[in-house]
Amino acid sequence: MTKSLISSFPTERFILGIETSCDDSSISILNNKYQDVITITQAHLECLQPYQGIMPEVASREHCRYVPLLLSQIEKKIPLKMIDAIAITAGPGLAGSLLTGHACARTLHALLDIPLIPIHHLEGHLCAIFIEDPSPIVWPALGLLVSGGHTQLIEMEKPFSYKIIGQTRDDAAGEAFDKIAKSIGLPYPGGPALSKLAANSTYSELFSIPLINDKTTLDFSFSGLKTQATRSPLKDELPMEDYCAMVENTIVEALYEKCSLALQSLPETKTIIVSGGVASNPSLRKKMLKLAQKHQCILRIPSPKYCTDNGTMIAAAANFQIEHNGPALTRLMGTYPQWILGLEPTNIR
Ligand code: KG4
Ligand code: ZN
Repeated sequence: MTKSLISSFPTERFILGIETSCDDSSISILNNKYQDVITITQAHLECLQPYQGIMPEVASREHCRYVPLLLSQIEKKIPLKMIDAIAITAGPGLAGSLLTGHACARTLHALLDIPLIPIHHLEGHLCAIFIEDPSPIVWPALGLLVSGGHTQLIEMEKPFSYKIIGQTRDDAAGEAFDKIAKSIGLPYPGGPALSKLAANSTYSELFSIPLINDKTTLDFSFSGLKTQATRSPLKDELPMEDYCAMVENTIVEALYEKCSLALQSLPETKTIIVSGGVASNPSLRKKMLKLAQKHQCILRIPSPKYCTDNGTMIAAAANFQIEHNGPALTRLMGTYPQWILGLEPTNIR
C-alpha cells in the first residue's frame, strides 16, 4: 500500500482518467492544476437506443470496442510516457463495464510502471467541480449527487469525510426522468430530452411528492412518481411540454425540499456541491442557486459537460487525493460494483 500519495508524484503531473462504470466510455488527461488537457467520451447511445435503456451486456461490449480506440486517439495527442498516474473508476457500477476499464488500467499500470489510483465514481462526480474552478472547498459542505443510478445527500465535514444522510429508497432521480420520458416516447436517455421540452413551458403544477411532508427523513422516493405520472390522465390531456414541465418541476422540488431540510439541520454548512448527470438540468441549477443564496452558501456545480460521466472527473478525484495526501487506496486492485461512498469496499459483493 502506498503510504504517502504526495511523495510519489512530481508537482507538475499528468493523470490519465478512465471511466467505464455505466454506458459512457471516457478517457482523459488532467494536469495537477485540474486543467482538462484532453477528454474523449463515447456514449453508447446508438447501441442502447433499441432497448431505450441500459443493457449491461451491450454496455460491456461497447466498452471493449471503444476503450482501445479512445486510448489510441489520446496517445496521438499526448504520448503515454508523459503520464504520471492512472485513475480508474473502481466502483460502483455495472460489473462488466467496470472490468473493461479496469483491465485497460491494470495493463497500462504494468506497462508504464506508474501508480494506479482506484476512484469511487461518486467521489469523481464531487471532484468534477475542480475542473473549471480549482479553488479549494470551503468546509463543511453538503453534497447532492443526482445521477441515473444515485440520489444521495452527503454531509462532508472535511476532505474524504463522506456521510450519507439521505438517499433514494427506490429509483434514482435520473432513472425517474428516463422512465417517464420513455413512457412518452422520447429517445434515450430521456432526462435531457424531457428537460428540453419542459423548457418551452411555464406550467407550474406538480404531481404529489412522496416523503415531502415527512420532516424526520432526508430520504427520497421516485418510483411512486413514475407510476403516478405514467398513469395520470394528464399525460394525454396536457400538451407534451406542460406534462414534461410538471414532471421536471416535481423532481426538482423533491430534491430542493430535502436539501433545504438538510441545511436546516446542518446550519454550519458553507458550500453546497451538486453533481451527477441530473445536475445538468437547468431548472435544478436555478433552484439550487436560490437555495444557496437563501442559506448564504457557496454553490458549486460543474458545467453540464462535466456533470455527466467523464474520465476528467475521475482524474480530478485522483488529483484531489494526491493534493491532500488522501486515501492512498492502491491496495484496492479490484472492481467493486456496490461500493458505498465513505466506506471501504471490503466484505461487499
Ligand atoms: O451521472 P450520469 O452521467 O450517469 C450515471 O452515473 O448514472 O447521469 C445520467 C443521468 C441519466 O438518467 C440522464 O437522463 C440524466 O442523468 N440527465 C438529465 C439531464 N442530463 C442528464 N436529467 C434531467 N435533465 C437533464 N438535463
Ligand atoms: Zn455518474
